[in-house]
Amino acid sequence: MNILITGSNGQLGNEMRVLSKLHPSHRYFFTDVVEAENTYLLDITDMKAVSQFVEEETIDLIVNCAAYTNVDKAEEDEATAMKINADALSILGGQGVRVIHVSTDYVFSGDEHMPCRETDSVAPRTAYGRTKYEGEKRLLAVCPEAVILRTAWLYSTFGNNFVKTMIRLGKEKDQLGVVFDQIGTPTYAADLAWAIFTVIESPVWRPGIYHFTNEGVCSWYDFTLAIHELAGIKDCRVSPILSEEYAYKTPRPHYSVLDKSKFKKTFGVEIPYWLDGLKRCMRGLTD
Ligand SMILES: NC(=O)c1ccc[n+]([C@@H]2O[C@H](COP(=O)([O-])OP(=O)(O)OC[C@H]3O[C@@H](n4cnc5c(N)ncnc54)[C@H](OP(=O)(O)O)[C@@H]3O)[C@@H](O)[C@H]2O)c1
Repeated sequence: MNILITGSNGQLGNEMRVLSKLHPSHRYFFTDVVEAENTYLLDITDMKAVSQFVEEETIDLIVNCAAYTNVDKAEEDEATAMKINADALSILGGQGVRVIHVSTDYVFSGDEHMPCRETDSVAPRTAYGRTKYEGEKRLLAVCPEAVILRTAWLYSTFGNNFVKTMIRLGKEKDQLGVVFDQIGTPTYAADLAWAIFTVIESPVWRPGIYHFTNEGVCSWYDFTLAIHELAGIKDCRVSPILSEEYAYKTPRPHYSVLDKSKFKKTFGVEIPYWLDGLKRCMRGLTD
């Protein structure tokens, strides 16, 4: 298959590059809006450029790792977020090829206290969540055979993320307050890339919305303690604080755990526990 991967310079896009080496039977086209090594330039909001790329390279499948992911900035510039997270999905979905797209736990309100299923009602509370939900709808309207994987709390050895920030702060500060009233599942982007390849390599194409994160749950506070322990950081005292004590610009969901039963049952796989994913990522960061 000829596979077009968008947003290849991001966390997930880079993990797709790494894992693609284990799947050499396909031809990959790694693209992003910013020039980088081994990356074709492709802005997913540019309909003409996308159509031309798909046609010239006879693309069979698009894996969309591109997104506007800055939750706070999206509040100030929802129009740009909408262009990238929603309008572009009509473009990608309108190419007449298969699409695997990545969405978010932010489509839910985060007010429930049970893991969210794919069939649960959505109620995005942020501009980012609204644009990502709109993207799901736009994609399914033109490409009902698409696969959408909703994920959460993504981190990787690539890009900036919570794990790297906590390692840096742990080294700089002797104390740190981290929220313990937001519960979710840290997800190693390499494991999400593995999930995407599970979909790609499945003998039967199984369209639909799926939830995929690592297994288990924790708070950002617990996550930080695990990061510091694995990084050997001993001189920073981490205290649990409430969300209201932290000056969030944008409200964050209190409970954003996703139920992954559908993915596991459909593809017959088990999913790694979040701490296991973190350990593998930390090895990559410290090697
Ligand atoms: N990060 C999380 O915690 C999280 C949680 C839930 C779901 N997700 C979803 O998971 C997916 C992957 O996230 P990620 O963390 O890997 O994102 P990321 O690191 O921010 O990477 C996204 C990439 O897309 C690029 N991009 C932005 N606009 C583009 C455009 N118009 N055309 C082509 N590329 C463009 C970005 O470039 P610039 O950096 O130059 O803008 C960046 O390289 C996204 O769909 C995201 O919504 C992420």
